[in-house]
Amino acid sequence: MQWVLFGVVFCGLYGVNGNRYADDPAVQRFQEYIRINTTTGGDLTPAVEFWTRLAAEQDVPINVYEYTKGYPIIVLKWAGLDSSLNSIQLNSHVDVVPADESEGWTYPPFGGVLTENGRIYGRGTQDMKSVTIQYYEALSRIKANNITLLRDVYMTIMPDEEVGGEDGMIPFLQSEEFSALNVGLELDEGAPSPIPIIPLFYQDKVVWQIKVDCYGEAAHGSTFPATNSTATGKCRNVIDALLKFREEQYIISTRATIFDAGVYTSVNLNRLNGGTANNIIPSVVSLTFDIRLGTRVNEDAFQAQLEQWIAEAGENITLTYISKNPQSPATVVSLSNPYWRAINQAARSLKVPIIPIVPPGSTDARHVRLAGVPAFGISPMANTPLLLHAVDEYLPASTFLKGINIYEQIITKLANIPSSDTSPDPSVYIVKTAL
Ligand SMILES: *[C@@H]1O[C@H](CO)[C@@H](O)[C@H](O)[C@H]1NC(C)=O
Ligand SMILES: *[C@@H]1O[C@H](CO)[C@@H](O)[C@H](O)[C@H]1NC(C)=O
Ligand SMILES: *[C@@H]1O[C@H](CO)[C@@H](O)[C@H](O)[C@H]1NC(C)=O
Ligand SMILES: *[C@@H]1O[C@H](CO)[C@@H](O)[C@H](O)[C@H]1NC(C)=O
Ligand SMILES: [Zn+2]
Repeated sequence: MQWVLFGVVFCGLYGVNGNRYADDPAVQRFQEYIRINTTTGGDLTPAVEFWTRLAAEQDVPINVYEYTKGYPIIVLKWAGLDSSLNSIQLNSHVDVVPADESEGWTYPPFGGVLTENGRIYGRGTQDMKSVTIQYYEALSRIKANNITLLRDVYMTIMPDEEVGGEDGMIPFLQSEEFSALNVGLELDEGAPSPIPIIPLFYQDKVVWQIKVDCYGEAAHGSTFPATNSTATGKCRNVIDALLKFREEQYIISTRATIFDAGVYTSVNLNRLNGGTANNIIPSVVSLTFDIRLGTRVNEDAFQAQLEQWIAEAGENITLTYISKNPQSPATVVSLSNPYWRAINQAARSLKVPIIPIVPPGSTDARHVRLAGVPAFGISPMANTPLLLHAVDEYLPASTFLKGINIYEQIITKLANIPSSDTSPDPSVYIVKTAL
């Protein structure tokens, strides 16, 4: 009986919650944005139209730049009192990774469904359409309160992040339009945390992807050449060397705290290709490894190590770099950095712990830091399961709404930093190696 009663009360409460959120205009805008299919590589015209309408509703200027055809970069300007000061760039990406209902989604991935228990389901709810709407809602609220911040604030909305930013952030950083923004600090995406903290990324691990082609003599399947002269035998030697290193790094990773994935280098063998027939010894076998460099790894030394392993594995093995990003510097997370102080103050006034970490992956922020602009990755999703790129990605509406308050504080503190507190050269707030 008691359990039945509990169930009734529980469902009743959830029902009320779901309905309450359904009327919230911020929730509605978030749902509408989720319903636009912005899968990387697809047509972004509807997303540009969506932002053009929202910019008009707040009477803020919008610019759309295309450095690659079909890849619009959207910029909304929220003018401050003194445009001569370094601005604050609130970056997010519009693209999402592919999602298909057939993968087993409970609700359609582009449905933006708000459930009775107050969860908003859909691709991009965590990664990272929530953040873009939260920036917009926070800035709209500040404006509605008749507050003009000291510094200009720009919302920049990038395409192509999920596949590396070659047609998004990378050309934008090289453009005159970006220089003209005179950015002092960039905010970018973070990640949810299952515990009651908000992680803040201050450095990214960079990606090296390598392809190793092992060439050996092709022969009939009945012949019996020395193992080390076959393509598979040579590749076995390469795999042995890299997986031995992987084991060592794996042990280091098991001892690492969740706050510093920068202490280890991850290595994964993700593709093996080769062979033409069941009875032919193949002339070539290929391996593809995805490597995320530890933040303290010297790139030249690591490259030399890779080349040595390949050389020792045998003759006629080639090494090709599919991607080889230079180590990204770190944004200073001590009180000597006025931008970090401002975020710290916001965290204290909100009573939300914001903890600097190095994540296992990387975001567009790595390109920004390399361009000499300090960047922090933060997505306000405490106590939230990690569902980036997952089936049934969702965000509780309550977490989404809390995030607007968090950004209201953070943006206000950042954009009101007095000019005397910051160096006009933002690169002084980045350092080559992690602290
Ligand atoms: C979403 O867009 C992608 C890329 O254009 C497309 O392949 C996919 O079928 C679309 N999904 C839905 C549900 O429309
Ligand atoms: C903001 O200013 C407008 C115009 O002066 C006024 O109508 C409105 O009440 C003000 N809003 C707040 C929250 O003070
Ligand atoms: C095959 O090559 C590996 C790597 O160079 C080497 O360790 C091993 O001793 C070789 N095996 C033979 C039988 O030569
Ligand atoms: C390497 O490739 C060359 C050219 O195909 C060939 O002549 C040579 O025998 C190969 N060496 C080994 C050790 O497989
Ligand atoms: Zn993302």
